[in-house]
Amino acid sequence: MRAGVFDSGVGGLTVVKSLKEHKLFSEIIYFGDTARVPYGVKDKNTIIRYSLEALEFFKNFDIDIMIAACNSVSAYAITELRKNAPFKVSGVIEPGVLALKRRSADKNASILILGTRATIESRRYETLLHKHGFNNITSLAPSLFVPIVEEGLFEGKVLETTMKHYFKELEAPDFIILGCTHFPLIAKAIGNYFPNAVLIHSGEAIVEYLEKEYDYTRRFEETHLKLFASENPDRLKATANIWLNDTLQ
Ligand code: DGL
Repeated sequence: MRAGVFDSGVGGLTVVKSLKEHKLFSEIIYFGDTARVPYGVKDKNTIIRYSLEALEFFKNFDIDIMIAACNSVSAYAITELRKNAPFKVSGVIEPGVLALKRRSADKNASILILGTRATIESRRYETLLHKHGFNNITSLAPSLFVPIVEEGLFEGKVLETTMKHYFKELEAPDFIILGCTHFPLIAKAIGNYFPNAVLIHSGEAIVEYLEKEYDYTRRFEETHLKLFASENPDRLKATANIWLNDTLQ
């Protein structure tokens, strides 16, 4: 069983990490569009165009499913991708919402969605959450978190000051959706800021989703990972070595 995992850059490795840990696939082909990252500040049409180009790349491989790890892609391009793909396509937004639903019986629970500007402006999380009966929702695009994570500042003064900047007006939420590939890397700091909140991480959510909705229950002995990038693949491999703590081919 092979999966193609697509992201705007290196961030989707946070999703790969969960998929690898759960051994859902025998092989993962990862493509990061590192030449054109970030997607989160781009408009809908550009994100769809880039996503369809990535789809052409994945058509070169015999994959069973393409997973858009990128929330900005998941927000805008899933319908177009599904229309044009010869394999299954999944985003991470529906999995995130269903993961939250499984964890909260209380429809009045307060939910904070954190995402890129593109993801937040699409209102995809909000719309789906409303459909499932949740109405106590706050959406926020803390854009500075992305470069902070890219710099590897997963803790410390810069991150703390930035969190204060974005969070100071907010009431502590019950749930936080980490609606951006980069945010699981600062989940610990976000969790320290809001110690009573339950954090929803796309990587864990997609594993649950594939098991429950697509019946991916088989486990493989190990998952081989092949990494591709539109620019500087060595940097992607170096990041993967650190984040996944793995030896890559
Ligand atoms: N991968 C993007 C996302 O999850 C974050 C980085 C970007 O803006 O491209 O939305």
